[in-house]
Amino acid sequence: MRIIMLGPPGAGKGTQAQFICDACSIPQVSTGNMLRAAMKAGTPLGRQVQEVVDRGALVSDDIIVALVRERIAEADCGGGFLFDGFPRTIPQAEALQAAGVAVDAVVEITVPDAEIIKRMSGRRIHPGSGRVYHVAFNPPARPGLDDQTGEPLIQREDDAEDRVRHRLDVYRRQTQPLIAFYRGLAQSTGLRYLAIEGTGTVAAIQGELAAGLGIDPAPGRRPQGPGPNLG
Ligand code: AP5
Repeated sequence: MRIIMLGPPGAGKGTQAQFICDACSIPQVSTGNMLRAAMKAGTPLGRQVQEVVDRGALVSDDIIVALVRERIAEADCGGGFLFDGFPRTIPQAEALQAAGVAVDAVVEITVPDAEIIKRMSGRRIHPGSGRVYHVAFNPPARPGLDDQTGEPLIQREDDAEDRVRHRLDVYRRQTQPLIAFYRGLAQSTGLRYLAIEGTGTVAAIQGELAAGLGIDPAPGRRPQGPGPNLG
C-alpha cells in the first residue's frame, strides 16, 4: 500500500501515520523527520535547510524530491510506504508522477486553525525517534520523558505560535492546491481519497482511518505518536 497523508501542520498526520504504518507493515517516510535528523546530525543538508525549517518556510522542491527518491529506493519501501509531509507542492506531486510512483490512497486530515495553535503549544517530541506527544491530549507516562527510552522530550523550534501561524499560511498557499490535484486524480484513476475531520480523539480518528482504508483497527492498542521514523 502506498499512502499520502495530507493536511495542515498539527492536523495529526504524524500521530496517525504510526497507526497506519503498524497496521499495514509499511515504513513512514516523513520528510520533516528526515530534515530534522539531518539538522540534528549537522550534515551538509541539515546546515543548508536549518534556517528555512526553523522559520516555517518550505525547503526547495529539488532538495525534497531528491531526498524522497533516495529514500523510497531503499529495500524496506519495496512493499509500500506512507508519505507524511510529502508532497507539499504541486511540483513535488508532479515529480512523483513523473517518476512513475503511483499511490493507492490519499488521506486528508482537516483541523481548524485555533485547535492547531493549541496542539502545537503542547506538542513534545522525542528527538531521537520523532515520537510525538501532547502534554494534555497524548501525554507520556512520565511527564517530559519518552515512554520507550526515558530520555527527555523537547519542543520543536518551529512550534512557536508566530511560526505556526506562518506555516498555516504557507500550507494554504502552497500545499492546499494538492487537495484539488488529488481529488481530480481520484476521479480519473483508481486512487482512493479519504477526507477525515481531525478534531475527534486520536482513537476515534484511528477508527475512521481503519474503516476508510480497510485495515485492522487493532482495538485496545494505545494511541501512540509517530514511531521510529516519525514526524
Ligand atoms: P513536518 O515535520 O512535516 O511538519 P508539518 O507538516 O508542519 O506537520 P507537523 O509535524 O507539525 O504536524 P502533524 O500533522 O504531523 O501533527 P502531529 O501528529 O505531530 O515539516 C516541518 C518542516 O520541514 C516544514 O515546515 C518545512 O520547512 C520542512 N518540510 C517538510 N517536508 C517538506 C516538503 N515536502 N517540502 C518542503 N519542505 C518540507 O500532531 C500535532 C500535536 O497534536 C501533537 O502534540 C499530537 O500529540 C497532538 N494530536 C494529534 N492528534 C490529536 C487529536 N486527535 N486530538 C488532540 N491532539 C492531537
